Amino acid sequence: MKKTLQYDFGMVGLGVMGRNLLLNIADHGFPVIGLDNDPVKTTVLEAEAVAGTKVKGTVSAPEFIQSLSRPRAVMLLVPAGKAVDAVVEELLPLLEPGDIIIDGGNSYFADTERRMAYLAQKEIHFLGIGVSGGEKGARFGPSIMPGGNRQAYERVRPVLEAVAAKVNGEPCVTYLGTGSAGNYVKMVHNGIEYGLMQLIAETYDLMKRGLGVPDDELQRIYESWNAGELQSFLVEITAHIFRQGDEHTGERLVNLISDRARSKGTGKWTSQNAMDLQVPLPTVDMAVAMRDLSALKDERVQAAKMLAVPSAGISENGNRQQVVVQIGNALYVAMIITYAQGMALLRTASEAYGFGLRLDEVARIWRGGCIIRAACLEDFRKAYQINPGLPNLLLDPTVAGMLKKRQSDLRAAVTLAVGTGVPVPALMASLAYFDGYRSGTLPTNLIQAQRDYFGAHTYERTDKDGIFHTQWG
Ligand code: 6PG
Repeated sequence: MKKTLQYDFGMVGLGVMGRNLLLNIADHGFPVIGLDNDPVKTTVLEAEAVAGTKVKGTVSAPEFIQSLSRPRAVMLLVPAGKAVDAVVEELLPLLEPGDIIIDGGNSYFADTERRMAYLAQKEIHFLGIGVSGGEKGARFGPSIMPGGNRQAYERVRPVLEAVAAKVNGEPCVTYLGTGSAGNYVKMVHNGIEYGLMQLIAETYDLMKRGLGVPDDELQRIYESWNAGELQSFLVEITAHIFRQGDEHTGERLVNLISDRARSKGTGKWTSQNAMDLQVPLPTVDMAVAMRDLSALKDERVQAAKMLAVPSAGISENGNRQQVVVQIGNALYVAMIITYAQGMALLRTASEAYGFGLRLDEVARIWRGGCIIRAACLEDFRKAYQINPGLPNLLLDPTVAGMLKKRQSDLRAAVTLAVGTGVPVPALMASLAYFDGYRSGTLPTNLIQAQRDYFGAHTYERTDKDGIFHTQWG
């Protein structure tokens, strides 16, 4: 009897991400099978397979499960939320103890914990894995952030290490920790992504509206920034975006795109969870708020007329180039402050949820493949290697030295924005975080006094131990 081929890895959901990741896995020598309700997608999968690779698509869940070698490794790349639960319920009767379900979507970490507990009762492992890098990343090397049961991870490790992006030969994947560690790290990745994108957008606005820099020059500026210490995927694609013309009108495409930004929620989750854990994350908060504000288009257009204020304007005295350099430095400082906030959140969350994260490893696997990859991540990796318990990147001597050298440029960029009325809330929030964090004393003594005044909430004193209350006034 002819033995049917057993597939090493299965993918449910053959949309852009699922299909490309599965083809990437096949390229590395693993026979793979994909499941999707839509026969067009299974056909596209097989048609796109590279010659010599073993790739099959099916619309039949029983065929899919029976074709997989055991213990089965089944990855889901379906929209986060109800779709994940629906697929789990569909597959469950077909699976056997020891099989592994891997959720590769942007699932909320608490949902991952719930699914893990539910499936553990049925002796099915559930791994929550963040995958970053978009379509190209999935096809040619994403950054992969796995968490969950260690043994289950070991079963899929060879596949993940083979397909992940490589930096200096090291794969951008590692076992991050227990439970929903992978989804949590991916959520914070996306929160940082929101912050960085908002910061870049603000520098664009400041240069275009504030300084009157023409679009052609913007492209060159982002290109030159990307060639220096700002080297990062998001700065790189920003330069490309300014190069892109519209095929219908011939105009620069970016100028034809509506300024209402959308979101799928991961940035908001990051801010919400940071507040639950009482970790300050103001740059990400602002990035979320500005996407929300951008949606109020009609109100903004009305307010633009009603609330027009005189702008200080920029004197064209030939120092524009110098101001652009300052704005670049401001972006660099603010980007680092954004990573610092995200890393500080990961540190607290790791303790609160028992993930056991190693922040040097997080920085390492973010150096390639993912949306927030940037040259500075190598510095952060070193900082956490030297001091794994570092409470905040701002306390690393190298990072602190760099911030001290450049912080005046962040101040200058914010001052320029204030004078010209260009909104730069994320740059401001980053500066405020920097100034707040480096304030040995804050005016919060007054807040404590006020709380005690109106609500008898008590306060502590600087000169003696204990809890105090005063009959004020
Ligand atoms: C990634 C991206 C990816 C997705 C974002 C977009 O790491 O590859 O983060 O996950 O593009 O979720 O998020 P918004 O739609 O919320 O901007």
